[in-house]
Amino acid sequence: MTTMESLIGLVNRIQRACTMLGDYGGGDNNAFSSLWEALPSVAVVGGQSSGKSSVLESIVGRDFLPRGSGIVTRRPLVLQLHKTEDGSQEYAEFLHLVRRKFTDFSLVRKEIQDETDRITGKTKQISPVPIHLSIYSPNVVNLTLIDLPGLTKVAVEGQPESIVQDIESMVRTYVEKPNCIILAISPANQDIATSDAIKLAREVDPTGDQTFGVLTKLDLMDKGTNALDVLEGRSYRLQRPWVGIVNRSQADINKNVDMIVARRKEREYFATSPDYGHLASKMGSEYLAKLLSKHLESVIRARIPSITSLINKSIDELESEMDHLGQPIAVDAGAQLYTILEMCRAFDQIFKEHLEGGRPGGDR
Ligand code: GDP
Ligand code: NA
Ligand code: MG
Repeated sequence: MTTMESLIGLVNRIQRACTMLGDYGGGDNNAFSSLWEALPSVAVVGGQSSGKSSVLESIVGRDFLPRGSGIVTRRPLVLQLHKTEDGSQEYAEFLHLVRRKFTDFSLVRKEIQDETDRITGKTKQISPVPIHLSIYSPNVVNLTLIDLPGLTKVAVEGQPESIVQDIESMVRTYVEKPNCIILAISPANQDIATSDAIKLAREVDPTGDQTFGVLTKLDLMDKGTNALDVLEGRSYRLQRPWVGIVNRSQADINKNVDMIVARRKEREYFATSPDYGHLASKMGSEYLAKLLSKHLESVIRARIPSITSLINKSIDELESEMDHLGQPIAVDAGAQLYTILEMCRAFDQIFKEHLEGGRPGGDR
């Protein structure tokens, strides 16, 4: 791993440990919550069934999210990806079930569904209470991704009238955070002028600096039409390049077409497309994942000094908390605090060594 990867990985783990500590360490105005917000996260935003969950899965390279027509994602899913050493086994872990390691990703999907139902019942209701999931794998980049319920225009049977506004407010609380990168998902088979994702992104991020435009369902466009005007930035200009995607169709999902096959088909789609062939190297989910991780790395690199000072502040706070550790605090919380403290020190250490190596800011 590069130093950069280890640093990001550590901050990732510190964030996770802080989340686990919950109310105890994660109170509102301390260094922990600032630390949590210091690192960028990526939130997917878009209309219902625009392909948000599918795009997230492609970035992770794993099948594990509930997908389908209608409102499937009904609670925010905060997904932390942790890059592990080559050859290590891939597994997932939920914050609400920390002692269980999931190696079968179809069970991860089932647990997301069950845990959604535990709060919302088997209804079409939504809840702002996030589900926290971590994936440990040698094949991911250190990244926090957030899957969100889709923006809608009308309430359907079984939903309160307020749902349209409730979903929008929920999405806003995530994307309005200063370090949130917006993955604005629009389906190519709808007019871009009607895109909920672009509308919200433009409001929250008027300069377009934090927004990545993603165009899904290119394969579902009417014959004889194409999306070149959007992909080449003529319809709606963003600061960053648009990325076109072909996810699995519902028929593919029903047939259990796996991720590797889906990626190959997507690559072939672009490589052989008369319309998009010339853009093939800058299209598709794998390219999007790389683009995001490169962007994230540059954002983090620029933020290392402020993250370091936050971490030092956390170390101070933690040390004084440890001093006060006594009877009233659960043993678990003490152990958690200690772990966080150790990780913060490790970050500080790696960072100092990195600086002494004479290459501040990264080693790529
Ligand atoms: P979400 O509601 O925005 O999270 O969307 P999902 O990822 O659940 O996808 C909704 C439906 O659209 C599913 O049936 C997907 O199979 C289908 N879908 C998503 N992206 C594409 C795509 O690029 N092409 C095709 N053909 N279907 C897609
Ligand atoms: Na959906
Ligand atoms: Mg979804």
